[in-house]
Amino acid sequence: MKLLVCGGAGFIGSAFVRRRLHQTADSIVVLDKLTYAGNLANLADIERDPSMAGRYRFVQGDIADPTIVVKLVTEADVDAVVNFAAESHVDRSILDAEAFLRTGVIGVHVLLEATRALAAERAANGKPAPRFLQVSTDEVYGSVPTGQSVETDLLAPASPYSAAKAAGELLVQAYRTTYGLDALITRGSNTYGPFQYPEKVVPLFITNALQGLPLPLYGDGLQRRDWLHVDDHADAIGAVLDRGEPGGIYNVPGTGERTNVDLTRTILAQLDKPWSLVRTVEDRAGHDRRYAMDGSRLAALGWSHQVAFEAGLAETVAWYRDHEAWWRPLLNADWADYYDRQYGKRLAESVPGA
Ligand code: NAD
Ligand code: TYD
Repeated sequence: MKLLVCGGAGFIGSAFVRRRLHQTADSIVVLDKLTYAGNLANLADIERDPSMAGRYRFVQGDIADPTIVVKLVTEADVDAVVNFAAESHVDRSILDAEAFLRTGVIGVHVLLEATRALAAERAANGKPAPRFLQVSTDEVYGSVPTGQSVETDLLAPASPYSAAKAAGELLVQAYRTTYGLDALITRGSNTYGPFQYPEKVVPLFITNALQGLPLPLYGDGLQRRDWLHVDDHADAIGAVLDRGEPGGIYNVPGTGERTNVDLTRTILAQLDKPWSLVRTVEDRAGHDRRYAMDGSRLAALGWSHQVAFEAGLAETVAWYRDHEAWWRPLLNADWADYYDRQYGKRLAESVPGA
């Protein structure tokens, strides 16, 4: 297949591109704006590998820019568009949501319009319809106090981030219903692994602990997340792209729930660092207490997890320990500014972690 992968220079997108080029004969164009979270270093190994480099091309650009999108989707006659591009951090969406809406709603609409034009052109030429896969999140369900979300549940997003993701999904569903677009949606769980920008809790706590800096734990730390390794997440998206029912929505759960306290304990133990680094700080506004999803629809496609949580986390901790040259340059002036806005007051008013 000939794929356009949007947001392929980010954390999960780059894993998808790397694994897809390894596992298939696909050729891939990556379209990425290179926001603060996009990083060409995430794709450097692909450019160096002759078995992959010839089937891969990078284009810097915005999914909300129709000129570039029409060129890369309609004129390039791709077989599928896989959209990872998004502003992806809840805390930043609470500070300022505008970019989340621009990429998550307008950007998704631009991609859908270009794919719709391509589908019409292909239908006129008797060619198979292009697929559109929107990478979404379990956060669209909102907090799930008990049980597990199934794909038909109502969406009840709580943060500006998850509201923008839900809005993008609803547009995708509208294009499927109104125009018959072959559009799919995946809803992935909290993902961890190498190459994750240090704002998210796993890489933040690992890199802070490595530097001897405080670990800011929100509220009582008893919020629960179901952790999914990035390679499993990427492969699940590949399985849905290859074998998903037209118009299908697929949950991608993790391998087991953990409270944030448990997660923090495991990270500190693996780094041989003391609990005294943990600071209890003011909670995130609107903080979802728990996410949990049922994965039977995805399992019916013949997909299953390959990475157990303890082993995946140990490998991730080791990766950050060994790849300071990757994460250190990310801690620049913009990072310091964000860190101060997000954690300055919180840490000044913090107490030792319980
Ligand atoms: P990320 O922030 O690491 O990467 C996002 C990428 O999108 C970056 O490379 C960025 O430069 C690019 N991008 C942002 N706006 C763009 C635009 N307008 N045009 C083109 N490129 C743009 O995010 P991630 O963690 O890899 O997440 C990827 C996708 O998976 C997102 O859609 C996210 O909502 C979803 N998701 C993430 C998780 C998670 O735990 N990280 C879980 C479930 C779903
Ligand atoms: P995060 O990695 O931001 O992912 P999400 O908000 O998408 O679940 O946060 C994971 C959990 O960790 C969430 O319950 C919030 C918590 N957390 C902290 O306690 N401290 C932090 O500094 C961060 C970033 C997150």
